[in-house]
Amino acid sequence: MQSLRNKIVEEQGYKAWLQYTLKNDKQKDYYSSYLRVITYHQESEVIDAATKELSRAVKGMLGISPEIKKSSIDEQSEGVLLTLNSHTSKAYQSFNKELDRYQIEQMGKQIIISSNSDKGILYGVFHLLRIIQSDESIEGLLITEKPRNQLRMINQWDNMDGSIERGYAGSSIFYQDNQFIGDEERVEDYARLLSSVGINAISINNVNVHKVETTLITDLLPEVKKTAAIFRKYGITLFLSINYSSPIEIGGLTTADPLDQDVQAWWAEAAKNIYTQIPDFGGFVVKADSEHRPGPFTYGRDHTDGANMLAEALKPHGGIVIWRCFVYNCLQDWRDRKTDRARAAYDHFHPLDGQFADNVILQVKNGPMDFQVREPVSPLIGALKKTNHLLELQVTQEYTGQQKHLCYLVPQWKEVLDFDTYANGEGTEIHNIIAGDVYDYQYSGLAAVSNIGADLNWTGHDLAQANLYGYGRLCWNPTLDMQELTLEWIHQTFGKSDRLVDSLLKIMLQSWETYEKYTAPLGVGWMVNPHHHYGPNVDGYEYSVWGTYHYADRDGVGVDRTMETGTGYTEQYYKPNADIYNSLTKCPDELILFFHHVPYTHQLQSGKTVIQTIYDTHFEGVEDVKALLDEWLSMEGEIDEQRFKAISQRLSDQFEHSKQWRDMINTYFYRKSGIKDEQDRLIY
Ligand code: GCU
Repeated sequence: MQSLRNKIVEEQGYKAWLQYTLKNDKQKDYYSSYLRVITYHQESEVIDAATKELSRAVKGMLGISPEIKKSSIDEQSEGVLLTLNSHTSKAYQSFNKELDRYQIEQMGKQIIISSNSDKGILYGVFHLLRIIQSDESIEGLLITEKPRNQLRMINQWDNMDGSIERGYAGSSIFYQDNQFIGDEERVEDYARLLSSVGINAISINNVNVHKVETTLITDLLPEVKKTAAIFRKYGITLFLSINYSSPIEIGGLTTADPLDQDVQAWWAEAAKNIYTQIPDFGGFVVKADSEHRPGPFTYGRDHTDGANMLAEALKPHGGIVIWRCFVYNCLQDWRDRKTDRARAAYDHFHPLDGQFADNVILQVKNGPMDFQVREPVSPLIGALKKTNHLLELQVTQEYTGQQKHLCYLVPQWKEVLDFDTYANGEGTEIHNIIAGDVYDYQYSGLAAVSNIGADLNWTGHDLAQANLYGYGRLCWNPTLDMQELTLEWIHQTFGKSDRLVDSLLKIMLQSWETYEKYTAPLGVGWMVNPHHHYGPNVDGYEYSVWGTYHYADRDGVGVDRTMETGTGYTEQYYKPNADIYNSLTKCPDELILFFHHVPYTHQLQSGKTVIQTIYDTHFEGVEDVKALLDEWLSMEGEIDEQRFKAISQRLSDQFEHSKQWRDMINTYFYRKSGIKDEQDRLIY
């Protein structure tokens, strides 16, 4: 572990956006006048974490060790003061936006950070550090903030053998060889990163729960307990993904039928044991009846039976069931053009709206398919008016370049969050729904699949750290301006040199569009190698040798999802979205092939044909990557050598790979259609 620690110290990327770089003398004098002393009024482990973070940051940025002291409320103090408004310090047990609220106020030479909870104080401290890391002024500070979303969750897809499903940054920081690694410092550093952007919940194992992981809720509980204790200090509640068949696999029962009394008793007992060890345990994340995972369907029961049974077991302890809606027939034969995977989540769950227990939350992926570079927003979000739900995003870049390519996803997420569902008339945007402002949910918010691993810079690609940062910040405030959010991250991660900031901002904000240009066109998705989902494979299809996801033939391409001649998927949206998507002329160009099967010569709203758009975007995409690479290379000297080199390497690999994408896609469509590029460029 010691040699790992040494390596970590040397790795610039390890600190991510908590760099705490030494300031110049003028700045040191200025900030030191406020930060020489840290005083707190009440004690708790979260407040302890807050003072430690402050002290670490002050040492790093100002080169001084601040005095840390406890004082009574009536005593005069100086410097930073951390104080609870009330004496309820144990806020971590509940997900309550009011308890997360904090205030930062400058008064004379004092900065007062106050909140109704210790967790709120910690968030306030991280906010103050963000300000100082960005060299901003302290004078006149008066900030009051609370999160828009109640649950702000991260899902680890880590397996106990150390692998991570869809992980692109090394092995797990939690497990190796079917055991907990026990590197508490590393896990704590992860907790710091998460908490600094307001994440308040984590599930620590893959949603596909295999044999060993099934015992996390029983034999391995002492280890889980230790992990929960680390996250607790940072206001993060721990959840576990469970195996629906646990009563059979580890309980000695012959069934996992949710209506069976022995099964119910088994889960009640399991829950009781967990809470004896971890009193603030969050609850279960469940992937059931999906991609060969067990679930209530086996017993002729439905999702409500399954979820409510688990909810009942957790209820006496205040626990929650997070039930995923990623349920579809993964053996679908796409030659039958009526069955449509995109319809599945809505078809399964919409009829059940209102029938779930109040401590069940449905977790819905942002799109109806599977985290593609471009998909429409899932019609299920907003349609569940009487059921708690979470929006699920994917921070790990499964289909978006696997952290080898730069693909900053905040612009994509902003589009999702700003999408107007019209569920309750105009102005029913996704961000309003999941914030619980439209319907009266007991719980709501966001969850996302993490992109970190044991790589020393956490995310493989140093710039992929921005996706984790951006996710957390958008959970806190989904209406944050995209440019400001990105600048925040750049300032803290790389500093403030104008040259660097301008270039990096441009690179980041353009990268999603660039990636989209050279990969699957016009919303059709996939075209990736089956199963591992990296690299072009035009006819790549997961489930049999027979299907394609896009139905390209010599005449046209795209999936007819219209009401009249297609799968009828468009009907799942509220008007006017349903009509817009259903109409060949109104459907946005970028989604045309998701909703319609069209001839290659179909003219888009842009005025160009489909085939010419495919050629143009693919040529442009590669040029964009080249421009991006050149822009980056021109920053040599503005950035530490370590990160400069590592990022340069990834970007030049991306450039090579984008050419492969361009050539495979363009050739494919040229051969299918027989239509030449108007500009007569070389198509291999
Ligand atoms: C995708 C992904 C799987 C994952 C699944 C899920 O299909 O490729 O690895 O298990 O999503 O979200 O459950």
